[in-house]
Amino acid sequence: MLGTGSTGSTGSTGSTGSTGSTGSTGGTGGTVPGGSVVLVGGGPGAADLLTLRAWRALAGADVVVTDRLGPVEVLADLPAGVEIIDVGKTPGHHPVPQHEINAILVEQARRGRRVVRLKGGDPFVYGRGGEEVLACRAAGVPVEVVPGVSSALSVPALAGIPLTHRGTVGAFLVVNGHEPLGVVALAAVRDRTATLVILMGVSMLSEITDQAVTAGADAATPVAVVESGSTQHQRVTRATLGTLVRRAAEVGVRAPAVVVVGDVAAEGLLVPDTLVSLPVLSALVPEPAL
Ligand SMILES: C[S@@+](CC[C@H](N)C(=O)[O-])C[C@H]1O[C@@H](n2cnc3c(N)ncnc32)[C@H](O)[C@@H]1O
Repeated sequence: MLGTGSTGSTGSTGSTGSTGSTGSTGGTGGTVPGGSVVLVGGGPGAADLLTLRAWRALAGADVVVTDRLGPVEVLADLPAGVEIIDVGKTPGHHPVPQHEINAILVEQARRGRRVVRLKGGDPFVYGRGGEEVLACRAAGVPVEVVPGVSSALSVPALAGIPLTHRGTVGAFLVVNGHEPLGVVALAAVRDRTATLVILMGVSMLSEITDQAVTAGADAATPVAVVESGSTQHQRVTRATLGTLVRRAAEVGVRAPAVVVVGDVAAEGLLVPDTLVSLPVLSALVPEPAL
């Protein structure tokens, strides 16, 4: 499937860890025409959550600049001539700085190559896709964006958690767990007016729950943590704001994970009343297989 449309390239296949800076194109004077960059949102990890447009872009790539998250296993199916540049981590486990990633995209495109920048989820949801678009445009490199299935929406859905649910909550808010919760997020949790979806929050669970409860949120507010959504390691842990830190430590919650705070995170939300009232049957109801 991936073989169609690719011309291959002179690059080295599977050069993970490379920063791709071999060869010299120099500045704009050395630009080979025909190069371009496509920022491709790869979804949360499962190959079949890539969009058709994403597959087409990959099939036509000369070089793929990839991250740690997302559907990285599809890279093994790329034609032999396609160069893979892994900017997700170096041997020292440090990601390549963003300005270097921008420079790689521009340099590769200036060699006349069709560059796919493969990113987890959607490129514009905490993906620094905007900075990469700006860098390409500033360099006069044609750039387009293929939207991806963001983990913010898809990972809860894969765990059977609807972010909105008629009669329960009608809005959701996606926030970055690296930073303290803002006033809008705190009000949403306290007043139960929106589901809070927290990305990159695993190392901050204690701060997040303390902040929410201090702001007046009910300690009994349901929370679900969904790790490695769409992969074979997907796992859902249920707790409340009051019990989350202990529960997460007990089961050893690890990134990547999406944290969902609000009434939709309650276990049993999608178990029909008819089954709830029958204790024997309700014990047999499986996790929603959506
Ligand atoms: C830097 S953000 C990138 C988000 C991405 N652009 C998106 O739209 O999904 C990385 C965070 O996304 C979440 N994430 C991405 N893939 C995930 C997955 N398969 N399962 C759980 N969380 C995931 C985690 O919160 C992780 O820390």
